Amino acid sequence: MGEIPTHVAIIMDGNGRWAKKQGQERLFGHNVGTESVRVCSEFAVEKGIKYLSLFAFSEENWNRPKEEIDGLMELMMQSIANEKETYRKNNIRFRVIGERRKLSDTLLKSIDEAEHETADNSGLNLLVFLNYSGKWDILQAASRYSKDALTAQREGKQAEPLTYGLFDGYLSTCGIPDPDLLIRTSGEQRISNFMLWQCAYTEFYYTDVLWPDFRKTDFNLALESFNKRERRYGKIK
Ligand code: FPP
Repeated sequence: MGEIPTHVAIIMDGNGRWAKKQGQERLFGHNVGTESVRVCSEFAVEKGIKYLSLFAFSEENWNRPKEEIDGLMELMMQSIANEKETYRKNNIRFRVIGERRKLSDTLLKSIDEAEHETADNSGLNLLVFLNYSGKWDILQAASRYSKDALTAQREGKQAEPLTYGLFDGYLSTCGIPDPDLLIRTSGEQRISNFMLWQCAYTEFYYTDVLWPDFRKTDFNLALESFNKRERRYGKIK
């Protein structure tokens, strides 16, 4: 195996279609999707990947039927409770990224607890993106920077000049390296408002496999494909 990407991001897509194929409700697909989350987290640990980012709920997903939204939030809570042992055994640090204000108090409490309990774990950083959108992230960063710039001005100081590096520090992914590889399952080939700023030079990998079926061999194929890529970052080799 060649170079292991430091940061892998996944758009976990196809749960609904998978469930329909089994003659089941959409939530059944999301439920089985949590098994893929566990398998992929363990595989990332095995491979020595440092950051695994999972797009679990987008800002746009609030437009789904209430029953599905409630089910997904409940599933998130169950998954956090069930996976504590996986995090402990594998030295995984669990973190949630996204706009928290719209999340319920009970969900926020279980997120806070899991983040706190795993804060000292030094292995894989498992980043779950919840109520996240790339445009939201850029806007909140811009708005926080302008607030700081105004404060500096009011205090008679120079606002720090806005650079890519400075802006990175205002994003919700502050301190996390940009994704090297972005995997999207279910045959769809788009970014769907995921980490727009952070994916400027990310390698994309698409597979027709639906998320509930995504297992280690599928993850490994993505890593093999990543290894064949020549990353030039706009330069000539
Ligand atoms: C996309 O499939 C999937 C989601 C919107 C939810 C992903 C959530 C999970 C896998 C469960 C919990 C996650 C964690 C991190 C514990 P879709 O519903 O859009 O599928 P479709 O395109 O086939 O309808």
